[in-house]
Amino acid sequence: MTLKEKCPIVEFKDFGDERGRLVVVEGRHSIPFDIARVFYIYGSDSTVIRGQHANRNSEFVLINVAGKSKVRVTDTHEEFVARLDKPRTGIYIPAMIWKEMYDFSEDSVLLVLASTHYDGGEYIRDYAKYSEIMKKKS
Ligand code: TYD
Repeated sequence: MTLKEKCPIVEFKDFGDERGRLVVVEGRHSIPFDIARVFYIYGSDSTVIRGQHANRNSEFVLINVAGKSKVRVTDTHEEFVARLDKPRTGIYIPAMIWKEMYDFSEDSVLLVLASTHYDGGEYIRDYAKYSEIMKKKS
């Protein structure tokens, strides 16, 4: 499986009419997991890099519900950058993928849906350590 297949871009149902738009994300229907946690990042800008970690267990979907950002993902073998700039489009990121979010527009609101409750212990924040684990896995 390629990294782009592991981390697909997901299009959600967008019910637009004269009143505006309504986007629906349903756990286990439009994304591959039940949603246990929602958080969102705003007030970041083009100078900061967030993320810079991999999660041992958590799966995520990232959606810029306002503004823009980019996310770079890698599994150490491949990498790609996804532009998050549409409220109806997200990226699915499975466990054990290194991710970095950056280039936030001032109006960026990055919504993150997660498959788990927060557990700081499942984060790998050191790229060398992540690389080592991935080397052992392959
Ligand atoms: P951090 O992992 O540094 O955010 P990012 O991945 O965007 O760089 O998290 C920032 C702080 O928020 C850190 O103290 C942990 C806390 N936090 C929670 O308590 N619960 C959560 O669900 C998340 C994502 C973070």
